[in-house]
Amino acid sequence: MTSPGHTLSLLVILGVGTLAAPESSSRALNQLPADFIFGAGTASYQVEGAWNEDGKGENIYDHWLHNNPNLTVDGSNGDVACDSYHKYETDIQLAKNLSVSAYRFSISWSRILPTGDTNVVNQKGIDYYNNLINGLLENDIEPLVTMFHFDLPQKLQDIGGWPNPRLVDYFVEYARILYDNFGDRVKWWQTINEPSSVIMGYSGSPALAPGIDSSGVGDYMAVYTLLKAHAAAYRLYDEQYRATQQGKVGIALNIMWYEPATNSTADIAAADRKLQFYAGIFGHPIFSAEGDYPEVVKQRVANNSRADGYARSRLVEFTPDEVEYIRGTADFVGVNHYTSFPASDGQSGSNPSMDYDAGVTLGAFTDYPVSAALWFRNIPWGFRKTLNWVNQQYPGYPIFVLENGWPDSGEMEDQGRIDYYTAYLSEMVKAMNEDGVDVIGYVAWSLMDNFEWGTGFTIRYGIHHVDFDDPDRKRTPKASFAVLEEIFRTKTIPEQYFR
Ligand code: BGC
Repeated sequence: MTSPGHTLSLLVILGVGTLAAPESSSRALNQLPADFIFGAGTASYQVEGAWNEDGKGENIYDHWLHNNPNLTVDGSNGDVACDSYHKYETDIQLAKNLSVSAYRFSISWSRILPTGDTNVVNQKGIDYYNNLINGLLENDIEPLVTMFHFDLPQKLQDIGGWPNPRLVDYFVEYARILYDNFGDRVKWWQTINEPSSVIMGYSGSPALAPGIDSSGVGDYMAVYTLLKAHAAAYRLYDEQYRATQQGKVGIALNIMWYEPATNSTADIAAADRKLQFYAGIFGHPIFSAEGDYPEVVKQRVANNSRADGYARSRLVEFTPDEVEYIRGTADFVGVNHYTSFPASDGQSGSNPSMDYDAGVTLGAFTDYPVSAALWFRNIPWGFRKTLNWVNQQYPGYPIFVLENGWPDSGEMEDQGRIDYYTAYLSEMVKAMNEDGVDVIGYVAWSLMDNFEWGTGFTIRYGIHHVDFDDPDRKRTPKASFAVLEEIFRTKTIPEQYFR
């Protein structure tokens, strides 16, 4: 056994500063740890195409966009998208060229279970993901697998979708099939991508399927089911698979930054409230020490519901047993972060709605560069604040950044994307090396241009350009590719970009 004195002298010989110094202090300020995971991401409906091939069942986006082609600005849909179902080997090569050590993709639930249930298991769907996973591993690329990224089997929407609490049972059986078939090789699972976006499909959002307008009621019911489904999938892994498969299970939360518009107490409280209503509503039950929804969310929804004569809070509250069941069900916090807004105290949204319940109005940081998706600006410091907020709210959980990227109109000389990535990555490195936040990985969105939901193919996030007029869907690296490749390979933000 080594005595403390021996340890100290050993550290001095090794040139390590003091015993108390964090591990990060031994790195240059612009450097990431050697084991840091860099990746690039996509999602099934956005890239796969092959919407009705080889036994795949219809999902809510197939259904919604076939019935309402005018709901995307260019009338497009994901029927073919990047054709990744046929071109996955090319995609693996793109990831390899980019020097990433991980590729984040999602599994299309209805490609595996066409009815959403286990009465039909589509072997060809399983074969597809086996080929993709094996191809990645052969190229030393770790698969980061999202179980659900918005494309719910239509059959499950026909019985109500996420507001129906029975979806917990369907999700957990789907998760079991994934662990059984892929868990020997997949070591990083995310149950649900951006539950806060999923629920927008039940609050009348014109861009998101299933387009149910049940604002302030159905969306809260979906929150409840999504949290229980996540917890059930985690617990299943923990109890039946972890010992043999040794992987990690988390969830990807979408967290924008909300900065108080002024120093007033009301605006400071409003910015915090907005974070709690949109990120805390999912994060607090899973990651906080006490569990359950954030108190401010519970109180405001209950008060508004009472004032309007509802029989109970529109928020579906958890029993004490449910609080315990959900609490602690993750091995890491997945964070998708894109941009920031100034937040003020004030009413917004119609009643009832989550916006109305939150009571926060958002502005825009008009001094910062605006992207092609006009609501979205390049505000790098918001990323550092987001990472610090997550670390402070949910201490003890490592953070895995699962999405971050910049939208434009498809330029090959994508300087806006270079500016965004280099500035945001600098802020992430500062959060790690200067603030001591434990970030273990970062996934750039996206490996390639793809179907961007309501904006179709008009808004592009790709590091690779995809020619959607070419039947072969040719992929070509953009200018940002070389900059990112160097950062991913060297795990260093080059001096010229580090600010
Ligand atoms: C979603 C992606 C989407 C990206 C850019 C995220 O909300 O997970 O599917 O493409 O943002 O809008």
